[in-house]
Order: sequence, then C-alpha cells, then structure tokens
Amino acid sequence: MEFKNKKSKISLKNSFSNLILSWFYKNLRNLPWRNSRNPYQIWLSEIILQQTRVNQGLPYFEKFLNQYPHIEDLAAAPEEEILRLWQGLGYYSRARNLHKCSKIITDKYQGYFPEHYSSLIELPGIGPYTAAAIASIAFDEPVPVIDGNVLRVCSRYLGIREEITSPSASHKIREFLNAEIDRNQPGNFNQAVMELGALVCKPGKPECLLCPLHTNCVGYNSGIASELPVKKSKNERKSRFFNYLILKCGNSYYLQQRNRNDIWKGLYEFFLIESDRLYSGNSLPDIKNLPVKIGNCIYESEINRHVLTHQNIIAKFFIIECAQTEGIDQSDNVWFLPQQIERLPKPILIDRFFQENLF
Ligand code: ADE
Repeated sequence: MEFKNKKSKISLKNSFSNLILSWFYKNLRNLPWRNSRNPYQIWLSEIILQQTRVNQGLPYFEKFLNQYPHIEDLAAAPEEEILRLWQGLGYYSRARNLHKCSKIITDKYQGYFPEHYSSLIELPGIGPYTAAAIASIAFDEPVPVIDGNVLRVCSRYLGIREEITSPSASHKIREFLNAEIDRNQPGNFNQAVMELGALVCKPGKPECLLCPLHTNCVGYNSGIASELPVKKSKNERKSRFFNYLILKCGNSYYLQQRNRNDIWKGLYEFFLIESDRLYSGNSLPDIKNLPVKIGNCIYESEINRHVLTHQNIIAKFFIIECAQTEGIDQSDNVWFLPQQIERLPKPILIDRFFQENLF
C-alpha cells in the first residue's frame, strides 16, 4: 500500500502537467494580458495572436486597448477606424468580426462575456481555439486550447506520425490534453503548452535539452522530434495579377473601397484592373468605365509580390495624370488628398506604396 502511494506520488510529480507548469512559472514571458483575467483583454490578445507572433502582436494589443479600454468603446467605434488600427495584421474579416462580437456582447450580454465554452463559441469570430482560451484563462473552465504550438508539442511528445490534421491525430491529442489538463489551473496549463511550443519546442529546431519533458518525449527519444508534426504538402498558392492605376487629378487620388466577398473587404485601394498578367506603362489596355479621362502614365513601379495564406498577389502600380474634369467632386468619396488617404484602412501592399511614393 505504502509502495503504491509512493509510486503514484512520483508519477504525479513527473507528469506532463506538473513538469510543464513548473517550467512555465520559471520561464513565462511577462505579457500585458497575463496580468489580467479580464475576458475582454484575453479575447483581444488571442484574436491578435492568431494573426501574428507575440512580439509583433504586442503593439497592436496596446493600441487597441488604449483606443478602446472597454468592450463598449470598441462596439461604438466606426468599422473603418477598427480596420485602420488592424492594418498590417491581414485577414481583415477577423477585425470585422471583432467589431460584430463587441456589439453583441454590449447589446445582448450587457457588456459581460458569457463564461462557458459552449456560449462563447456561438459568437462571431470565436472558434474552438478562442473559446477555449477565454473559457480557461478568464473563467477556469478545463477545456484544452489547441493551436499550432500545442499540436507541435503534443505530436512530438506522443510521437504522432499521422498527418497532423487527420481525425486520428486530432483525436489522440484531444484525449491526451483532456486527461492532462490541470483542473485547478486550466488557463495556466493551456498557456504553458503554447509557451513551450513558442520558446522551446520550436518548428524547425526544437531545443530538446532545455525541455522539461524530454525524458518522456517519444519524438526526442526516437530522434524524430524535428520531423514532427507531419504536414500535408502545401497547396500551390493561386497567383493573381493586380494592375493598380493611380489616377491623380490635381492633388487628389482615386481610391475605391473593396466590397466584394474577396480578400481585403472593406479596405481602400487604387483603381484596380485584375488580369491574367501584369501590364506595362506604355501599353496599358484601353480601359472602359474609368471615372476620369486619363492622360499619360508618368510612373511605372517595379513588380511587387505580396504573399497571403492562399494567394500570391503580383502587383504593379502606374501613376496616371488625369485631366481636371468637372466630374471631380471631393464629396464623391473616391477622390482623396494624401492626408486623407493616410487615415483610410488599406491593404499593406497599398499602404507601403503610398508611404514610399505618395506621402
Ligand atoms: N499564443 C497565443 N496565445 C497565447 C497565450 N495566451 N500564451 C502563450 N502563447 C500564446
């Protein structure tokens, strides 16, 4: 009996959960949202961190929190202002969902986040990952968070050789985390696994000797840690060719808002001709439906390449001086002065060209 107790004590002490939590307390990064159990701040940080790494996400978190200290402030803000603050993070539907969700929480929940995974997941922009992060970190619900870092740590620890998105791999990992999650501190447990994935169990070269779990890690012990997780070969990204005509009339430039269900919805861009190729400045095609009579192309940019998750955007910019016509009216909401353009939400491709060449 005594022996049994001792044995279970030892195995508990060396469990995945205990080892990773002790490591976490010694190594955690001091991040602003970690000093808080405020679900608004946790939600905001997690949505931003789905888009970027911690270092790049920090200034965005601070900007959003300064501008909108409470969820009601975010709900009351114009969407364009939110898109402008989000600029550079990409995947702008996340920013629009941030706004939608803040309105629902303000109007339907009197400004309080629901406390359970099952209600959180009903909200716009909140998927399994974010719902689990908010429920566990802010409300102590023992639901495991599963993101890329967590999948990497678990696939290596368990030695999972199946493709990481396969039902079998997902099932094994979920079962494992459900069994291991510390029910007294599920939020810390989840953050510990993510943190280990970000700092030690890194994608290319894991630092196994610094890892508190290496003794029992199947990936380490069989010498295959750096080859896990197994991923499907990346699908070829589709290439799209964007010819941007920068129509310049006096000091104003033509910009239009993207409204189609496509990338960059809601953002502003110059007059776009999407084609199966890039044009050259001295052989621009005859373009119908132009909002002004166009003159000469006075500048043709280099080729710009912009890589998105599923698409390669290959773009050129052509500055074209247009004749002043009576049609031009600032109130049309398509002609903007540079200082107005500066404040519009724009894809990073457009913003970079604007900052470097027109502002
Ligand atoms: N990545 C995303 N959210 C995180 C968190 N709360 N802790 C560590 N890494 C994270």
